[in-house]
Amino acid sequence: MVSWAITGATRGIGVSIPISSQRPQREMLTRPPLQLGFVKNLSTDSKNQVFALIRSLGTAGPLLELAAQRKNIHVIVTDISDPTKLDDAAAEVSKATAGSLDVLLLNAGSAGPDTAVLPPSAFHGKKEALDFEINESIKDNLLSNMYTINAFLHLIRSGAEKKVVFISSQSGNLDFTRRTGFSTLLGYSVSKAGMNMAMTKFAGELAPEGIKTLSLSPGWVDTDAAKAVTGDPEVRRFVLDMFHKVDAKVEGPAPVGEAVSDMLRVIGGLDEVDSGKFLTHHGDEEQWF
Ligand SMILES: NC(=O)c1ccc[n+]([C@@H]2O[C@H](COP(=O)([O-])OP(=O)(O)OC[C@H]3O[C@@H](n4cnc5c(N)ncnc54)[C@H](OP(=O)(O)O)[C@@H]3O)[C@@H](O)[C@H]2O)c1
Repeated sequence: MVSWAITGATRGIGVSIPISSQRPQREMLTRPPLQLGFVKNLSTDSKNQVFALIRSLGTAGPLLELAAQRKNIHVIVTDISDPTKLDDAAAEVSKATAGSLDVLLLNAGSAGPDTAVLPPSAFHGKKEALDFEINESIKDNLLSNMYTINAFLHLIRSGAEKKVVFISSQSGNLDFTRRTGFSTLLGYSVSKAGMNMAMTKFAGELAPEGIKTLSLSPGWVDTDAAKAVTGDPEVRRFVLDMFHKVDAKVEGPAPVGEAVSDMLRVIGGLDEVDSGKFLTHHGDEEQWF
């Protein structure tokens, strides 16, 4: 049995998305629809024990349906911004695994407030808006992830795999941002970059115990979050022009299943040598799409 705990497991990369939002019909005729988010992909193998950590049952319909069919999925409602609730969630996992966890996947994340569409200088004279833009993203994408790691660390210490993986973003990479000129999503990008650093700090601290950490970019993936940022055709054209500066071939977001199998390959290969790095879903530091 390999045990996995995954945050943000209700939608998108966490669990699955409807077939209608996958790639065009013509492509679907030539290969099976890829809609396996982490929970769906991992729970296909009965040797995996999958703990889906979610903040609300409100968006969990597809997850609950899947959990009703697959006995190796355990749904736990928690609040990743509350260390006490996270301790309770870890205790629940511990009961089912006799005190261990193999892999912790920090997947929950959000793009931030409406002001995420603004570049940095547009916040001149808008102190409150800037504070909110930065603080909300830091709370959701950095502090909550640190609380989660600390709540589950004692279980990871007793696990066989000893892996902690943060689903980051190319937006949190300096070189990607410099080359594309991507100037919006300020709080989101700052919080992802900050959490990348925190992951490297954890890697340094925990290396003597054999615990590996990794920040992993999923690529550009066809989920609600991607639609919210690049769904508008005009914005999408603008974003594509920027993305073409680092990859002339990128045409649009990839299906969830493709991104997830790529990431699971990288996670499977994570060893001491790569611990603390920030890698793409291809396992390198260059191919962001
Ligand atoms: N899609 C992309 O192209 C892309 C690119 C780069 C990085 N990423 C990263 O990939 C991860 C997954 O994104 P996605 O595209 O699958 O997004 P998504 O479809 O919007 O799903 C986000 C998931 O995170 C949960 N979540 C959001 N904020 C949370 C919070 N404060 N506390 C607890 N749960 C929270 C959501 O729960 P609810 O259902 O309750 O809202 C949902 O399960 C994120 O970390 C995102 O930054 C995505």
